Amino acid sequence: MSVARTSAESAARSEPSRDARERPLRDLRISVTDRCNFRCGYCMPAEIFGESYSFLPRREILSFEEIERLTRIMVGLGVRKVRITGGEPLLRHDLADLIARLRAVAGIEDIGLTTNATLLKRMAGTLRRAGLGRMTVSLDSLDEAVFRRMNGGKLTVGAVLEGIETAQAVGFGALKLNCVVQKGVNDHTLVALARHFKGSGHIVRFIEFMDVGTKNGWDVTQVLPASEIVARIDAELPIQPIDPNYAGEVAKRWRYRDGDGEIGIITSVSEPFCSGCTRARLTTDGRLVTCLFASGGTDLRAPLRDGASDEELTELIRGIWQRRSDQYSEERTAIMRGEQPDGAEQDTTRRVEMYEIGG
Ligand code: GTP
Ligand code: 5AD
Ligand code: SF4
Ligand code: SF4
Repeated sequence: MSVARTSAESAARSEPSRDARERPLRDLRISVTDRCNFRCGYCMPAEIFGESYSFLPRREILSFEEIERLTRIMVGLGVRKVRITGGEPLLRHDLADLIARLRAVAGIEDIGLTTNATLLKRMAGTLRRAGLGRMTVSLDSLDEAVFRRMNGGKLTVGAVLEGIETAQAVGFGALKLNCVVQKGVNDHTLVALARHFKGSGHIVRFIEFMDVGTKNGWDVTQVLPASEIVARIDAELPIQPIDPNYAGEVAKRWRYRDGDGEIGIITSVSEPFCSGCTRARLTTDGRLVTCLFASGGTDLRAPLRDGASDEELTELIRGIWQRRSDQYSEERTAIMRGEQPDGAEQDTTRRVEMYEIGG
């Protein structure tokens, strides 16, 4: 066993690194590609990400060895949960190989993946066998026209449902299904989506449309607040709030009163949850990002490729996390309410894009 592994493992047993607001480092979200076969308007609008858009060249993308090494180091600083994202992560070649490598990192308790499901029919079994534990699928509407309008005219609802079925058949069991709610676009189809999956074991989570990045033309009039989402579902399929599964859970849970399952609501705009945010994000090109709304992150790839030791990388990352004070959603919501935000405001002109960090 290498020295690096021994030190990461012993650190894994010690206290996690804490940021400037006392939040521990617990989750690592790893973006494995900036490419996607969809063009969702809220993430990669087709007008901007057209045929001639140039995505990252191969040499700029972290290799699996590099991702594994950084993950091992971050486990030493407190990480226990890993989520693979993109872009669309299934577009990364040999993704199962990365899953298997991460599975073997001592200290990681959970590996999840967020996907648009269109390639699952082909890949779900391999991912399962490699050790992937959980799967979240993005699905904004069951209405074909609405769905296609939202994803840039790409694949069909049928392709996603087929992916979900395959995932279930190979043993993923209950999935989380993410629906981004845009007022005037898909909000009239929310109840149908909830109804379709009620009783299936899958958990539909409705996400308030967020102002991530600078390219999705966000404005507050397109946000349907969580209270409205709940009211609309409750009017047809009665629900009641239930306790979180664990402290800091992103989605607020609601159960159907008839016992037929639950839904989740992600209230980043109307009721932010920054105080429990334990999530670090690694971009495809190796930047460490401490908030969904950060301006760019800190480059880890250069020191990694310049021969930094595990100890040097550990200290670099520990320092970044210790200085972290991000709470963008709390600040945005305070400003929207006409209050003075507590803490430094973030630069809203330069921001990391959703397709770079995968949510
Ligand atoms: P697990 O806890 O691993 O099950 O995952 P999750 O539910 O946190 O992950 P998922 O990626 O499914 O999160 C759902 C969505 O919530 C994301 O796609 C984002 O849109 C949003 N989200 C997740 N984390 C954050 C966060 O830290 N801040 C904000 N503002 N939104 C987040
Ligand atoms: N607001 C809210 N959710 C978003 N997602 C992507 N962009 C946004 C946004 N602007 C969600 C997608 C997917 C996950 C990766 O992030 O629906 O489920
Ligand atoms: Fe692709 Fe997901 Fe972004 Fe849609 S939200 S464009 S599926 S990465
Ligand atoms: Fe975490 Fe930033 Fe989201 Fe707040 S806005 S929950 S700090 S990622």
